[in-house]
Amino acid sequence: MSHKREGIVKKINNRSVYRTIMRAYNACAPTPPLLMAPCSHGWFFDWFRRDGVGVVGIDIEKHRVEEARARVSPPMETIEGNILEMPFADNQFEFVVCNRFILHFNDKFKAKAMKELARVTRRWLLVHYDYKYSIRQFGRLIKAARTPKKDFSNHPGYRIWKREGRKLRYDRKMMAQEGQAAGLRIRKLYFVSYLISERVYCLYEK
Ligand SMILES: C[S@@+](CC[C@H](N)C(=O)[O-])C[C@H]1O[C@@H](n2cnc3c(N)ncnc32)[C@H](O)[C@@H]1O
Repeated sequence: MSHKREGIVKKINNRSVYRTIMRAYNACAPTPPLLMAPCSHGWFFDWFRRDGVGVVGIDIEKHRVEEARARVSPPMETIEGNILEMPFADNQFEFVVCNRFILHFNDKFKAKAMKELARVTRRWLLVHYDYKYSIRQFGRLIKAARTPKKDFSNHPGYRIWKREGRKLRYDRKMMAQEGQAAGLRIRKLYFVSYLISERVYCLYEK
């Protein structure tokens, strides 16, 4: 794909993601600020500012936090810290967003992170997952069925970054289980584009 086309696709995708987050946010009508954990380089801070949504962000990487602070002026409050031990009070935020995070980690880490996210939310937690069923995923399965299985047994450590052996794609039951372990129940799933995109936002209620 050319850089230009890649840029346009990314832009459209980001807009759809932001719109999906805002659909959930507006439906809950929470008291701001929302907590974005993690916030990376200030995901959507410019659009949140434009739409008058107050945000507090947290991220573990210093350079990401610096980027997030420079994203809008005056800056959104952004804290350098670990999601597993956030420097916030119990129930501090009415609406917490966890974007592009949970699905990257193993079960033990995810369970801890979900508990900590549940601790700091007063009511709502919106978590990004990749859904099990989508046209994209169907295409991948067909491609995988046609590709001979590679043997990586002689390459210890290789492809670990590919999240091998982890729950990459979720159905509603898996999301419900993860939430339940942290004292949360599913209120609604918000699909970015049902069956076309695999990205889904699960709105949990405490
Ligand atoms: C998990 S990474 C996802 C990277 C992936 N390439 C993506 O964007 O889809 C997203 C953000 O999480 C942050 N992060 C990773 N571990 C964290 C932790 N324990 N606490 C807070 N932020 C964390 C990273 O610094 C990064 O900005």
